[in-house]
Amino acid sequence: MLLDGVSAFIAGGGGGFGAATARRLHAAGARVMIADLDQDKGAAVAKELGAGARFMRTDVTDEDGVRSALDAAASMGPLRVSVAAHGGPGGKRVLDREGGAQEQADFTRVIDVFLSATFNIARLAAEAIARSEPLEDGERGVIINTASIAAYEGTIGQAAYGAAKAGIVGMTLPLARDLSPVGVRVVTIAPGTFLTPAFKDADPVQLDAMWGAAVPFPKRMGRPAEYALLAQQICENVYLNGETIRLDGGLRFTPKGAR
Ligand SMILES: NC(=O)c1ccc[n+]([C@@H]2O[C@H](COP(=O)([O-])OP(=O)(O)OC[C@H]3O[C@@H](n4cnc5c(N)ncnc54)[C@H](O)[C@@H]3O)[C@@H](O)[C@H]2O)c1
Repeated sequence: MLLDGVSAFIAGGGGGFGAATARRLHAAGARVMIADLDQDKGAAVAKELGAGARFMRTDVTDEDGVRSALDAAASMGPLRVSVAAHGGPGGKRVLDREGGAQEQADFTRVIDVFLSATFNIARLAAEAIARSEPLEDGERGVIINTASIAAYEGTIGQAAYGAAKAGIVGMTLPLARDLSPVGVRVVTIAPGTFLTPAFKDADPVQLDAMWGAAVPFPKRMGRPAEYALLAQQICENVYLNGETIRLDGGLRFTPKGAR
């Protein structure tokens, strides 16, 4: 699929991966709908990109909100791309220092935001993309999800996050199979460690020394632009479907992540 003139919906479009993807797809000629809970961050990305970019404050866990943002995206051009790149709550160990069990509600919250919301976006985006006219090969569009390498080797404190991300990996093929009759592909990116605002409280030099050193090659954290490049390549290559692609420089998490 060529991105020129198509509309792309980007959940978490004000964040590290989302903003980088909005910039890249916009530069390739797409119109981008930046959907984010954070008004300031989302609006700033839309303002930076100018014509062909819009922001709508959206909570990805909310059905009506996602539907409205997708409708707005479809009004900007034929909707063919949906990217789920929103963030969410962090993890906790299953037993705290006093031996008390983690609240079940903490687990559910992480599953709600990362896994259930990714499905919410996928199902509503599929419905909206299926209304676009088919292109060559009958392709109508593509849904891109964001997992994590924690789906395969979650670290200490990542029982909920690892489960949510493994759920995203697990639904990628069945979603692609479900959507094959309407020509909508589904591909998931599983990033390693990337220097995004998610690490806002940490010193970038220390972060790179800790996380970058553990990466076989290249010995640094990933750059959001590298995620965005893969997102563009997924859009453009019609033969990529039903798969999760690790984007991690060969990194495999240890129990503590990098050490
Ligand atoms: N940064 C990494 O190293 C890394 C690695 C693997 C996976 N990931 C995954 O990539 C995704 C994005 O990560 P990031 O590093 O770009 O994070 P980020 O914090 O830079 O951006 C996340 C964005 O999502 C928005 N958001 C949070 N809750 C939302 C909601 N309910 N509705 C709508 N928007 C909401 C935030 O406002 C923010 O703009 C996450 O799913 C994360 O788990 C990140």
